[in-house]
Amino acid sequence: MITLGIETSCDETSCAVLKDGDTILSNIVSSSLFRHQPFGGVVPEIASRHCLEQIDFVFEEALKQAKIKKSKIDLIAVTEGPGLIGSLLVGVSFAKALGYELGIPFLGVNHLEAHLVANFIGKKEPAKYIGLLVSGGHTSISYHEKGKSVELGSTVDDAVGEAYDKVAKILGLGYPGGPILDKMAKEGNPSAYFFTKPKQKNRFDFSFSGIKTAVLYETRRHCEEAKPTKQSRDRDCFAPSGLAMTVARDMAASFQKSAVSWLVEKTLDAAALKGVQHIVVGGGVSANSHLREVLMREGRSRGYEVWFPPLSLTGDNAAMIARRGLDLYRKGKRSRLTLACQPNL
Ligand code: KG4
Ligand code: ZN
Repeated sequence: MITLGIETSCDETSCAVLKDGDTILSNIVSSSLFRHQPFGGVVPEIASRHCLEQIDFVFEEALKQAKIKKSKIDLIAVTEGPGLIGSLLVGVSFAKALGYELGIPFLGVNHLEAHLVANFIGKKEPAKYIGLLVSGGHTSISYHEKGKSVELGSTVDDAVGEAYDKVAKILGLGYPGGPILDKMAKEGNPSAYFFTKPKQKNRFDFSFSGIKTAVLYETRRHCEEAKPTKQSRDRDCFAPSGLAMTVARDMAASFQKSAVSWLVEKTLDAAALKGVQHIVVGGGVSANSHLREVLMREGRSRGYEVWFPPLSLTGDNAAMIARRGLDLYRKGKRSRLTLACQPNL
């Protein structure tokens, strides 16, 4: 069974060819990241235009790498939401047209569910597990059993990836902030700053806007005290925000230590509550080296199996969409040509 996956929910355009749900024949991702960098965040119009420009080329490239003709595709799975409406429309319209042309079924997939399912390509899905979804737009803990899932908690404000991006912006380090902060944190002192853990009514909910504001105030305080000169800036001792690089590194390390510890603590609590053996993590932030290290170590020491996707499948990609689509297809799901994109799915 050959499944074509299509993912255009935000700034990436991706097509993947998946064989029998467990072998990735190709997974092409074209990112418009460099076009958004001057603006410090994703500009929806630029993202959707990029998807429109790239989709034909990415599709052809996916077939070429997979060494198949389009007539060999049996099923098309496409992201229907959540995401940016303009970008989603490109993928969904393409999937409908191709499905109609080839006379094969197509179906819409939830991008967030697909992030966790990225772990099951070539690996059997556990009967029950706790899912930790950590992406640029969402943060949640869910309980999964026999194909059904219940959300135990989610963020009440910023998503963790969003917090990484905003903190990096405050420190003047560029976009996207996650990978930059992850790298910088390795050179800083994680105990230099202390950030209070926010209290939530639901113990599995998260909040990341307070820590972002705390970083903002600390940065302002340091910048006012330091007052960098032109010479010291030229010597590269200061981040563009005006913050000394040593302080920026310490701030990055302290922010990361707190954010990751909250994610790990709540995920392990949920696993204990539900009596599962497996913890499955997905989303862009699952690439974070500190999260991978701490959750693996703490989880294993308590007897859990902790699964992270391979780094190539942590960000937005169409292989995970194809895999989720195939699962749904086997359960009988089909979409009609009237399928509408759901930006807030
Ligand atoms: O899942 P994703 O690719 O897109 C969404 O569906 O949102 O996640 C993107 C997010 C961005 O906020 C980015 O900064 C973050 O993932 N990210 C990371 C790392 N790599 C990407 N955050 C922390 N550490 C990383 N290594
Ligand atoms: Zn995503």
